Amino acid sequence: MTQDELKQAVAQAAIRYVAENVPAGSIVGVGTGSTANCFIDALVQIKDRVGATVASSEATKKRLEGHGFMVLDLNAVTSLPVYVDGADEITHSLEMLKGGGGALTREKIVAAVADRFVCVCDASKLVATLGTFPLPIEVIPMAQAYVAREIVKLGGQPKFRDGFITDNGNVILDVHGLAIDAPVAMEATLNAIVGVVTNGLFARRGADVLLLGTPAGVRQMVC
Ligand code: A5P
Repeated sequence: MTQDELKQAVAQAAIRYVAENVPAGSIVGVGTGSTANCFIDALVQIKDRVGATVASSEATKKRLEGHGFMVLDLNAVTSLPVYVDGADEITHSLEMLKGGGGALTREKIVAAVADRFVCVCDASKLVATLGTFPLPIEVIPMAQAYVAREIVKLGGQPKFRDGFITDNGNVILDVHGLAIDAPVAMEATLNAIVGVVTNGLFARRGADVLLLGTPAGVRQMVC
């Protein structure tokens, strides 16, 4: 199976998960990235069960609206039973590294509101230790050089993501070479640097369910 076929398979599994576990008429939180896009396209199959959606990026909002879904401002939402999103890396304890697409801050906010985080990804994303994929950090532009120096002190090699501005008007540093043996502690340490909006470690609030696309079928793991 190709990686794209695995993404399609997990998207279908996520549709079944939502249909079976989320009350009809609920609001569905939707992530960002190529796997989340497969989910959005498949969500049309159960459109009558979806009350409205919340998007984790402008790109996702546009795609959802293109399929005719209502997209609500998160501030108007008091209950979000489920959030479905991809990951760049995920461990067996469902801690994630995200933000390859640069939408990490809004993803983390929507995930914080959601009762359940359903992660959808192909088997290549399952890792023993996070950090082979460069860790994205969203930074207020005027703090970029300072934050980069602080990251070097922590042992990382920050690389400015050239020509990229987040939906929030900020910049991204992609950090290479960090030893992320303790993701919860590292998430907190990085977020404590002045000028950091947030980092792509989703450890304090990891996924609750992983739908992992493997050549042998979609495997469900729960935390
Ligand atoms: C977007 O900012 C990311 O967090 C994505 O969720 C993550 O990069 C996974 O994307 P793909 O499904 O495209 O691999």
